Amino acid sequence: MKIYVTDLKGKEHALEAIEGWRVMEIIREHGLSIKAECGGCCACATCHVYVDESWLDKLPAMRDDEEEMLDEAFDLQDNSRLSCQLIMSDELDGLKLSLAPSDA
Ligand code: FES
Repeated sequence: MKIYVTDLKGKEHALEAIEGWRVMEIIREHGLSIKAECGGCCACATCHVYVDESWLDKLPAMRDDEEEMLDEAFDLQDNSRLSCQLIMSDELDGLKLSLAPSDA
């Protein structure tokens, strides 16, 4: 399975994804720039991504802690999510997203 990640320069990368991994971990493992300072504990908002509109409905709903953390993210948009809260599964095969700037 794969995910498609657009970096801050607008270049799309097709990344091999592994079921059960956090999307944040997949991005980091492939060497793309993502801070993910808290390592996936939903406590930093530096794994912020923008999910392609066509995928928004297919994602699991946000938990309260993700929503609260996102409130502190830099440049929040309607399609913002924390990539450490998205767990790779068959349903997310082909997921498209863009990295968000993380100056926060
Ligand atoms: Fe810190 Fe996702 S890695 S909130």
